[in-house]
Amino acid sequence: MIERSLVIVKPDGVERALVGEILKRFENAGLKIIGIKMVWIDKKFAETHYAAHKSKPFFKELVEFITEGPVVAFAVEGVHAVDNSRRLVGDTSPHEAAPGTIRGDFAHISMAYASKKGLGGKNVVHASGSKKEADEEIKLWFKKDELHSYTTVHEKHVF
Ligand code: RTP
Ligand code: MG
Repeated sequence: MIERSLVIVKPDGVERALVGEILKRFENAGLKIIGIKMVWIDKKFAETHYAAHKSKPFFKELVEFITEGPVVAFAVEGVHAVDNSRRLVGDTSPHEAAPGTIRGDFAHISMAYASKKGLGGKNVVHASGSKKEADEEIKLWFKKDELHSYTTVHEKHVF
């Protein structure tokens, strides 16, 4: 099933110069980048993006963390894009994320430690958690004319 998902290189990923590495992993996996931008989001936008976590104890730190620097947001399209993006990203806590996943390879801080220190969970990257979340997030982050349609070599030669 062809789906879309939203991926964000969080401020820690941008500051650590991991943007290229992260994009490469999605491209290598055959997920097509259909829109991309660098944005420094404000508090209000961050609260909308993470509205589902409003009641969580880490909400305030999470909003502070995601607004502490620019992020790179990109929309991907491909076969089971939501699940496949989550698999590339790995478990939420870098501490538990498997080697080979983005968080497993590049993020190091455990969520429990992050919470204790008020660090907001610096886990390098975000990917939509469900198809519904993906649709809402892509709508929030991208205007219709910022998303593009084209054919990749994966579609021509690999699938
Ligand atoms: P994301 O939405 O960013 O892709 O992450 P996720 O689905 O893997 O995890 P989710 O439960 O949606 O949590 C959103 C983000 O909140 C931060 N977090 N901090 N301090 C904590 O205990 C804690 N727990 C979560 C992380 O940045 C997580 O990615
Ligand atoms: Mg999530």
